[in-house]
Amino acid sequence: MERIVIVSGANSGIGLALCERLLTEDSGLRLCLACRNMQRAEAARSALLTSHPSAHVDLLLLDVGSVKSVLSAAQEIKARYSRVDFLYLNAGIMPNPQVDFKALFKGLFSRNVIHMFATAEGLLTQQDRVNSDGLQEVFATNLFGHFLLIRELEPLLCQSDHTSSVIWTSSSNARRSAFSLEDIQHKKGKEPYSSSKYASDLLSLALNQHMNSRGLYSSVVCPGMVMTNLTYGILPQFFWILIMPIMWLIRLFTNTFTITPYNGAEALLWLFLQKPQYLDPRSKYHSLTSGLGKNYTQPRKMDIDDSMSADFYLELTELEKEVKKKL
Ligand SMILES: NC(=O)c1ccc[n+]([C@@H]2O[C@H](COP(=O)([O-])OP(=O)(O)OC[C@H]3O[C@@H](n4cnc5c(N)ncnc54)[C@H](OP(=O)(O)O)[C@@H]3O)[C@@H](O)[C@H]2O)c1
Repeated sequence: MERIVIVSGANSGIGLALCERLLTEDSGLRLCLACRNMQRAEAARSALLTSHPSAHVDLLLLDVGSVKSVLSAAQEIKARYSRVDFLYLNAGIMPNPQVDFKALFKGLFSRNVIHMFATAEGLLTQQDRVNSDGLQEVFATNLFGHFLLIRELEPLLCQSDHTSSVIWTSSSNARRSAFSLEDIQHKKGKEPYSSSKYASDLLSLALNQHMNSRGLYSSVVCPGMVMTNLTYGILPQFFWILIMPIMWLIRLFTNTFTITPYNGAEALLWLFLQKPQYLDPRSKYHSLTSGLGKNYTQPRKMDIDDSMSADFYLELTELEKEVKKKL
């Protein structure tokens, strides 16, 4: 049976590398690139068809940061497909990142250098803004738009005769201390990215609790530290090139510096090959690369708890009602 796979943010970085790897793994699948910019989506499609000329690659206009766009994309998906086997929730932003250079240079020569790069803890703040739906942009893009999409696609994702998977591209930057149930959109803080990624970890657990019995399974992935447009937004490309020798050196001691989008997509592809019933809902699946360049996937327990995740789910469903009422 032809499997239907939708990838958000598929036109660059980890999303595009994942698409390439998925087609190499299963040339018979139907792949849908869900992107906000059709020109970039078309370019990604052409690149994929160059290496996989007979692949079925569809395009879908989806701006996960816009409620209206998510709802109409969901309608379009329901019109095109009778089910969805894999929904990769990969689109993400980190707008206007500010680096604490003092902490960076101090960290570069400290024992914490690996942890610092792997999690960006204490290094990064972002300037968020309110979008046209009245939501915080980072929360809306990285989390809420994807949540709405899942809710709208429930009829295609929850089917009695087979399982479906939703897979979040989370991060090691997901930290409990950045997230608050009293401020789920992170209106008050300066780490909306970290908050939104922690929120995806919490939501994944809640989705498993609510939807496993209906055949839907959710997992979270950390792609490691990958050179993409997102990382080039944090520091200019020349800086990354400058410190690349240090990064290669650090890679001899850690495995989280996956560096290339291909390596970063490792755990996303690994999950494609698993039976979702056997996965651990409390683990994050990490893409890892050894010093010798070997890719592998490793589960690591997340810092999440059931009651917080259940409360968060309730808050999201309330917000869903609110935004739909406004429309
Ligand atoms: N790179 C890393 O080290 C790293 C580490 C941990 C987690 N991640 C996560 O990995 C995911 C992929 O990021 P990346 O590193 O591959 O960066 P990237 O190359 O910038 O990819 C991000 C993708 O998301 C899309 N996107 C952004 N906002 C969107 C919106 N409103 N609607 C639809 N698509 C949207 C982008 O589309 P446009 O081209 O139109 O902007 C792009 O295709 C993100 O969720 C990121 O948070 C990355």
